[in-house]
Amino acid sequence: MSSTHLSPDPSSAAGSAPTKTTFRAHTDIAFIKYWGKKDEVLRLPENGSISMKLADLYTTTTVEFDPQLKQDVVKINGLVESGEELRVIQHLQRVRDLATQVSLPLATASARVVSNNNFPTGSGLSSSGSGFAALTLAATRAIGLRLSQKELSILARQGSGSACRAVCGGYVEWHDADTSEGSFSETLFPADHWTLSDVVVVVSQDRKTVGTSTAAHRTAGSSPFFITRLQRINQKILAVKTAIAEKNFGQLGQLIEAEALEFHSIMLTSQPAQIALLPGTIQVMHQVLQLRSKGIPCYFTLNTGHNIHVLTLPTHADLVADSLQQLPLVEWVVFTKTVGDPVQVSDHLL
Ligand code: PMV
Repeated sequence: MSSTHLSPDPSSAAGSAPTKTTFRAHTDIAFIKYWGKKDEVLRLPENGSISMKLADLYTTTTVEFDPQLKQDVVKINGLVESGEELRVIQHLQRVRDLATQVSLPLATASARVVSNNNFPTGSGLSSSGSGFAALTLAATRAIGLRLSQKELSILARQGSGSACRAVCGGYVEWHDADTSEGSFSETLFPADHWTLSDVVVVVSQDRKTVGTSTAAHRTAGSSPFFITRLQRINQKILAVKTAIAEKNFGQLGQLIEAEALEFHSIMLTSQPAQIALLPGTIQVMHQVLQLRSKGIPCYFTLNTGHNIHVLTLPTHADLVADSLQQLPLVEWVVFTKTVGDPVQVSDHLL
């Protein structure tokens, strides 16, 4: 990581006393998906991606570095043994290593971390992206580091790929690169450029059937169609950027729905096959087609889980949500929309 901005935060206490910091980072929905990695350790994706940040699905994380503490203590969604604690501790170590470079007094301190999602974890709603973004923002601030947006993005990426985008707001692009320095995200357009509605449809709160996303990413290259995907991806990224710039919802919708189906085609044709779709997911897809045939502008997209996002214009959001909520296989829907940057909050979780 470049050390251009790597310096103590003059506004923080930056002494050896514990400093509690809390950040809220929102999840995003990818319009062009990140799938497959060219470097697993650095989490460099095979292709660039584009997403939109979501207002009502978020992770809140409090971090406190305390020199009196013997070891890191991590509580996620109320559980001390969440299964994610080792990955969190590795990420705290990356933050301590950076703090060591600029001789911060808390650089060797252990930390207390409490993190909560306000939505089901591990069901394909990108909880690791918002989680590692909130952790990166809270931990760097709590330890007394001042990092640029680019440096935060690079650091967050090493915790979880999609966290690279989740430290930004609005419409976000994660650049394709062969180096860690070049693989970062930035806001393409702020949230107020264009507000879109997203009806997030939960068809099951269970964890997704596609195993850990690290293992699933590894299967991408085994699909015979993956090479074709990579050959066309930059053209698709450009088309999505143009549709957002021109606020052309019909164009954007077609592109993101086709991208979601292409992405699932890659998963379905990988070895072993990654089958994420549940009957409820398919039911929602058909209902979206039905609504469109009646002139309602709405398009679906989804990640590695079974829960599905339906993008629409704010003027049609109530109608789309009501129609999807009535489907027999739908558990509940969450209404959300485009949102800006992560925020620091004063209500700490510990
Ligand atoms: O961040 P990960 O490793 O959980 O990968 C998730 C990738 C997708 O959600 C499927 C697509 C994306 O770009 O968010």
